[in-house]
Amino acid sequence: MDGAVTITPATPADAPEIAAIYAHHVLHGTASFETVPPDAAEMAARMAKVRDAGAPWLIARVAAGEAVGFAYAAQYNARAAYRYACENSIYLRHDRLGQGIGTGLLAALLQACEDCGFRQVIAGIAGSEPASIALHARAGFVEVARLKSVGRKHGRWLDVLYLQRALGAGDATPPPEEPR
Ligand SMILES: CC(C)(COP(=O)(O)OP(=O)(O)OC[C@H]1O[C@@H](n2cnc3c(N)ncnc32)[C@H](O)[C@@H]1OP(=O)(O)O)[C@@H](O)C(=O)NCCC(=O)NCCS
Repeated sequence: MDGAVTITPATPADAPEIAAIYAHHVLHGTASFETVPPDAAEMAARMAKVRDAGAPWLIARVAAGEAVGFAYAAQYNARAAYRYACENSIYLRHDRLGQGIGTGLLAALLQACEDCGFRQVIAGIAGSEPASIALHARAGFVEVARLKSVGRKHGRWLDVLYLQRALGAGDATPPPEEPR
């Protein structure tokens, strides 16, 4: 990773920069199936929901201070038995792709997910983006499912590829408490 990048938990004050990074991918890419970018207030609300659930939301900044990427995870599904499974998302600023920042940010996110008790992490890779597949594969994710042509954006039918990896002890040991 770029040595000048620092990764920290995001705060509500980061919402405008995070919304701006995400907006580019919503408008121009297929990694997000949203078509209308959420504004900073909506992004702050999403961040609060993740934080209030005890899950991680990280931001990457260069030495000059600008935000260059963000990543977060949330429980995969709200139903109780999914307590130990999370889904991750990661977005780099469009002019900082392919510089190794995503690799460092994902590693930090996986550690944060493990630290907050998750045992499995799932990446839903919309549009089967090659960089995202490579990023997650390098971090130990393996393909577990593919939903065919479930998305339609920018005039294309899009698959969603699901990759998964264990965190910590995974399913080798029971969790500290059973979900209720
Ligand atoms: C996917 C994303 C987060 C990866 O972050 P990044 O900083 O660009 O990636 P890195 O530079 O750390 O490279 C990670 C791997 O992807 C590969 N890669 C990077 N860009 C690539 C591209 N355009 N095509 C194919 N592979 C690519 C790198 O070679 C590297 O693999 P390696 O370690 O085997 O060499 C970033 O490209 C991004 O934000 N893309 C748009 C949004 C997106 O797809 N988000 C994922 C949603 S889950």
